Amino acid sequence: MSTVFNFTFVPWFRSVAPYIHTHRGKTFVVAVCGEAIAAGKLSLIAQDLALIQSMGVKIVLVHGFRPQVNEQLAAKGHSPKYSHGMRITDGIALDCAQEAAGQLRFEIEAAFSQGLPNTPMAGSTVRVISGNFITARPVGIIDGVDFMHSGLVRKVDTPGIQKALGMGAMVLLSPFGYSPTGEAFNLTMEEVATSVATALQADKLIFLTEIPGIATDPALPVSEDNPIDTELPLAAAEKLLAGLPQAAQPSDTAFYLQHCVRACKSGVERSHILPFAMDGSLLLEIYVHDGVGTMVIDEKLESLREATSDDVGGIIQLIEPFEKDGTLVKRDRTEIERDVGNYSIIEHDGVIFGCAALYPYPEAKTAEMAALTVSPQVQGQGDGDKLLKRIEQRAKAQGLESIFVLTTRTMHWFIKRGFAQVEPEQLPEARKRKYNWDRKSQVLFKKLS
Ligand SMILES: CC(C)(COP(=O)(O)OP(=O)(O)OC[C@H]1O[C@@H](n2cnc3c(N)ncnc32)[C@H](O)[C@@H]1OP(=O)(O)O)[C@@H](O)C(=O)NCCC(=O)NCCS
Repeated sequence: MSTVFNFTFVPWFRSVAPYIHTHRGKTFVVAVCGEAIAAGKLSLIAQDLALIQSMGVKIVLVHGFRPQVNEQLAAKGHSPKYSHGMRITDGIALDCAQEAAGQLRFEIEAAFSQGLPNTPMAGSTVRVISGNFITARPVGIIDGVDFMHSGLVRKVDTPGIQKALGMGAMVLLSPFGYSPTGEAFNLTMEEVATSVATALQADKLIFLTEIPGIATDPALPVSEDNPIDTELPLAAAEKLLAGLPQAAQPSDTAFYLQHCVRACKSGVERSHILPFAMDGSLLLEIYVHDGVGTMVIDEKLESLREATSDDVGGIIQLIEPFEKDGTLVKRDRTEIERDVGNYSIIEHDGVIFGCAALYPYPEAKTAEMAALTVSPQVQGQGDGDKLLKRIEQRAKAQGLESIFVLTTRTMHWFIKRGFAQVEPEQLPEARKRKYNWDRKSQVLFKKLS
């Protein structure tokens, strides 16, 4: 029993390690819609957020309260009024919103104060800080419709929020803002979360919503043939948004997407739309490569770049399993440290997923491409090709005419990409002296055009 446990738990836990390291010290703005709380999910969401925070992530939590406000309105015999996709907040609606926000804050603070033994909250200490961090202005009158106490964000107290986060607290924001005259305005959760994420230049903006994400074809329901698009480059998201009708309710594809696009365009690296209905969706999106919802990403940030000394650990972690199984020849660690400038790497979400090194032999006008590796988690998505192209570019920039590789198992991959097999004798002299004749590696050359 314990052996099985070790076989599954230990590799699984280790596989999460790169994400834990990457996200430590980062800032996430997490917006939880009021429907999630109405559906009784608060306790589980709080447990997941407490766990994420314990792994060093700074969290600003913004809660929504649409159903709770509507419930209060209904109890007072009123119905909600909307226009232009926004609530019209009259005096009664403002009272209801204040009551709902007060109630929700208590519930959220209570959820983060749990600590019963044998629950995921045992031993956790989450200090929640709320405050007047948002300055608001009125929406005003649009097309003759007076939105009264509905507002928009005018300013975010960035230093104030950062100070609270720096103290190790979680910042909790309700969709309220105050004008310099002390008037309260009802805002939307989406607007507050997007503005705060932008003001803080957060690393992630996450909407935990009633929708599962953005379907590949948003006009059709999500199905096996029309799955959730897990990664939407910013340009594609903008194009999609331009073709959609203006959103009026959360189930409209444009509803959350427009905020993700706005945040991404304003410098928030990644925005996510996740379903609250899926238990643990926050953990799955943050600590598993494929994720579960839709992530809008500024693809310029998906980087293919030259390595620096900070990347040595990541490179070793990536190539080690292939050295162990004999696919790659074992390299001395000090050699990698010394030659790290020869490496190019591919990063997804700050984690190194691919690498390759270029070792020039200028006297023979050629170079070896060594240690080409793509993590098994992302093989088959073209990263190998991208690294090869980058190494070719680097070789050309140095005035070299060809590159070569030594391989025992990957010959066909290289042949498909323009390499041709030659005898080991054709290696540059300096390389030939180091050739391991017992390993019987095949030598493949590619002329650079
Ligand atoms: C070889 C390697 C770098 C390719 O990376 P990748 O990101 O998966 O490559 P791409 O996505 O650009 O290409 C994937 C294609 O290569 C094929 N492929 C993967 N490994 C292969 C191999 N050993 N032999 C032949 N083809 C291979 C895949 O089947 C896929 O083919 P398809 O596009 O027809 O489906 C990766 O498989 C790897 O890291 N392997 C282990 C280390 C290694 O062998 N390195 C070379 C040392 S010299």
